Amino acid sequence: METSIPLEESGAAAIADFSHAHSQIIAHLMSFSCLPGALQSPALQSSARHVAAEALAFFHETINAHHVEEEQLLFPEVLSRATDGTEREQILSMIEQLSREHRQVEALWAGLEPALQQIADGRSLALDGQAVQQLVLDYGGHAAFEEAEFLPLCREILRRDLARGEFAPTLNGQLEKIHSL
Ligand SMILES: [Fe+2]
Ligand SMILES: [Fe+2]
Repeated sequence: METSIPLEESGAAAIADFSHAHSQIIAHLMSFSCLPGALQSPALQSSARHVAAEALAFFHETINAHHVEEEQLLFPEVLSRATDGTEREQILSMIEQLSREHRQVEALWAGLEPALQQIADGRSLALDGQAVQQLVLDYGGHAAFEEAEFLPLCREILRRDLARGEFAPTLNGQLEKIHSL
């Protein structure tokens, strides 16, 4: 028998999914931030190789997918439900800022990737520690803004549509489809 999820839970679950991804990303970035230090210590070099390999996989599988979900599902969904005027302008300006930050973080990552691949393969111990710290700081700020400002506004807009009886759980349904691929 098919179980239907109450509409309110669908919207809340979709937003909670994004928050959960942030916790995972920040936890991984914290261990990634220790990598330059670990590479300086002979005793930690084999675990450093492991951290580099894990970071490469994590960025490809989780961070890139998270950006795609935000930009292709969450942003358009919330923008289409924003009321004309100030709310729409606010959402649009946040979306532009967040998308720009995604590109900046991806560019920083692309700069680090060849060195990380060499470390993971055991061919080098060289890594730009400043770029690593920049990436961790930038991502921390990005995720903190989404948690403090953007997601609460998304939650409010989705809840408002629910109260009007207009909410269709498309966002949650699409997220589930992506996660089942
Ligand atoms: Fe984001
Ligand atoms: Fe995010």
